Amino acid sequence: MSPTTTPPPDSPRASRVEMNQLVLPTHANAIGTVFGGQIMAWIDVCAALSSMRHARMQCVTASMDAMDFLVPIRIGDVVRMQSMVNYVGRTSLEIGVRVEAGKPTAGALEHAASAYLTFVALGADGKPTAVRPLICETEQELLRAREGEARRATRLALAAARGRLQSGGGQAGGTGKVGGERTSDG
Ligand SMILES: CC(C)(COP(=O)(O)OP(=O)(O)OC[C@H]1O[C@@H](n2cnc3c(N)ncnc32)[C@H](O)[C@@H]1OP(=O)(O)O)[C@@H](O)C(=O)NCCC(=O)NCCS
Repeated sequence: MSPTTTPPPDSPRASRVEMNQLVLPTHANAIGTVFGGQIMAWIDVCAALSSMRHARMQCVTASMDAMDFLVPIRIGDVVRMQSMVNYVGRTSLEIGVRVEAGKPTAGALEHAASAYLTFVALGADGKPTAVRPLICETEQELLRAREGEARRATRLALAAARGRLQSGGGQAGGTGKVGGERTSDG
């Protein structure tokens, strides 16, 4: 009998999701390349599925880090999104998404973008709720978790700074508060 390849349920591998989309004319702009926002929407869905697969609860997008579109993606191309939980805080999870694209008839797809999103798990009362820990086993999983923890610190600091700017009279207004890192008035 061959050994089982099913990953342990708390491992990053168990949260892995792959989504493929064919780029249709409705996804594209006037020059035949896909809207960046469309790619971001697909990334959001793929990452949401990974977050809920690990948390086993409803999860909402709290933030998406800055991302770059590396190559144009055209009508008729296939876009492949692969997502996985990198790091789990108390109620939040960082999901990494790798996007590849190219002709569906080609042997290989090209790296088109990478994205990191933070989701927050919500309990039945709709409030942030603790998520079970992520059990990293491989060197790569441990590295991803360490990098995810470092990114979390950076993004919370940036979000707190944005909140301070907004509460200081910016157009959008704001509370100056970001979960886990409250400002002195928060
Ligand atoms: C995300 C949301 C639930 C956080 O609520 P909150 O009251 O700030 O919650 P908390 O302060 O308890 O923080 C909860 C977690 O979110 C994290 N968090 C909050 N804001 C964050 C941000 N901007 N970026 C990254 N993480 C964030 C906190 O660090 C904390 O993580 P931890 O528990 O792992 O330490 C709330 O802001 C929300 O409902 N936003 C709208 C979500 C949504 O509708 N998304 C779809 C897009 S329209």
